[in-house]
Amino acid sequence: MDREAAARRPLFRMFNDVPGRYDIMNRILTLGQDERWRKKAVKLCLDEDPERVLDICTGTADLALRIAKMADKPIEITASDFSQPMLDVAAEKAQKLNGRKVDFVLADTADLPFENNHFNVSTIGFAFRNLTYKNKFAGQYLSEILRTLKPGGIFIIAESSQPKNPILKLGFRVYLKVWVQWLGGLLSGHSRAYRYLAVSALNYYSPEEVGKLLEENGFTGFQHIPMLGGSAAIYSVRKPRK
Ligand SMILES: C[S@@+](CC[C@H](N)C(=O)[O-])C[C@H]1O[C@@H](n2cnc3c(N)ncnc32)[C@H](O)[C@@H]1O
Repeated sequence: MDREAAARRPLFRMFNDVPGRYDIMNRILTLGQDERWRKKAVKLCLDEDPERVLDICTGTADLALRIAKMADKPIEITASDFSQPMLDVAAEKAQKLNGRKVDFVLADTADLPFENNHFNVSTIGFAFRNLTYKNKFAGQYLSEILRTLKPGGIFIIAESSQPKNPILKLGFRVYLKVWVQWLGGLLSGHSRAYRYLAVSALNYYSPEEVGKLLEENGFTGFQHIPMLGGSAAIYSVRKPRK
């Protein structure tokens, strides 16, 4: 990957700062729910009986490693991220995989080093917001994800969402401002990163807007599974078969 180009990407520096406590912070801030949401995304992925899977923005690889563990046969799993410190943590965790394998690739999602029509499934855990919220490269990221998927292949997204119920919505706002922004900043020592997380989640797109964004960028067949009262969601779309 061209390091200079990556360094110009929004959020690059922020993600290089957080890997040390990233997993434990996820568990604390979601009270372990993040693992339940990833599990649901993994189930959808494995329902496809894929040969090749790409986990984009893999971070510390919780999603990619779970795919490897839950699969009933070996699958070719590639996990990419533009942060080497995140991938270092991921590679260490992957050593406990017991025979299963994940290939880690340092790559900016704007320029994926994979062939056209290569993967049956692409997944992304809690990073679609990073790629699309106030991000001027969103179109480029989505076009790379589409290019590398096989026709008919599925793109599965686990992401925070917006509850529709007004009481749940208020509770979600308080949770983000107090629990995620304040407590996350305090415990992690990275107040800027957790402020970004809270503010971007607070203002992120509704499921309808996510569907529109994906369909405007060439995907089809938007599906939405709300989780925990709509505070999170599993979305999926496909690459058209033509
Ligand atoms: C919130 S973390 C999510 C990590 C992981 N997928 C999970 O489920 O916990 C976001 C990850 O996306 C990566 N990232 C953000 N923008 C990226 C880009 N343009 N290209 C590649 N990786 C990116 C960051 O380095 C970080 O590891």
